[in-house]
Amino acid sequence: MGDSEVFTSVKSLQKRLHKDSENSSIGFFPTMGALHHGHIALVKQALEENDIVVVSIFVNPTQFNNPDDLKKYPRMLEKDIELLNEAGDIVVFAPEVETVYPKNYEKLNIDLGKLGETMEGEFRPGHFDGVMNVCKRFFDIVKPNRAYFGMKDFQQVAVIQHMVKVTKTPVEIVVCDIIREESGLASSSRNVRLTEQQKEEALIISQTLNFLKSIVDKYPPIKAWKKAKQFFRDGNLELEYLEIIHPNSLKRLDTKWVPGAHACIVAYAGEVRLLDNIQLVPFEEK
Ligand code: PAF
Repeated sequence: MGDSEVFTSVKSLQKRLHKDSENSSIGFFPTMGALHHGHIALVKQALEENDIVVVSIFVNPTQFNNPDDLKKYPRMLEKDIELLNEAGDIVVFAPEVETVYPKNYEKLNIDLGKLGETMEGEFRPGHFDGVMNVCKRFFDIVKPNRAYFGMKDFQQVAVIQHMVKVTKTPVEIVVCDIIREESGLASSSRNVRLTEQQKEEALIISQTLNFLKSIVDKYPPIKAWKKAKQFFRDGNLELEYLEIIHPNSLKRLDTKWVPGAHACIVAYAGEVRLLDNIQLVPFEEK
């Protein structure tokens, strides 16, 4: 059982981080709270790989383009801290909005090109601008050696890697596998909003991805995509998008598979927006 310390101001957090020796490595995991076992798996990995682990819990308003989604986003700080204590000694940063975005805050503007236009970029305009800015702000405050991101947000990882490269931020981005419930449903903070029936129905998401993977050898991407969309229609969810993409450029694949080809999907179970992804083709061995 750990003993997590909670900080709300930049000054107190930095003072705590400077208390340890300069050579202590810092692992940082940015979250919006409502932690679940998927987060905890990642926290445990960070604890193994670093001397200090900082977890931020901050529901970032600038990455929500739907005010209702922001309002309904689950907030449960005390429960989150209890869960973190089960993982170990964690330095928790839980700032207010004014702390993250003070009056003199200067927004970072980076052209994300295709990375920001497709999929989440198309359906949630401004979303990645908000994500990129809050992560850069946290990186500047925490100055981590490593920052941990879950593969479930595949496009978010691509955006963060791009931002870190462009801004020359000295941090290693560690990408962690998708954690799933036993049923196959990708773990997500939003899952607490699902009824038992919706949880059951949401399985069509991972089933569609697995189906897609199983037909890669039979069809070119465009045909496989059509078949997968048909498969998805057997379920009860509303599809927002299903894309088969190049793993780096995120451009849609039509006629030819490439190493690392990936599929991303977003669907609604009632009002709850769920996303998932899968690697369809292995990368070539070097
Ligand atoms: O993935 C998330 O939970 C958020 O986008 C992040 C990275 C914590 C930024 O607010």
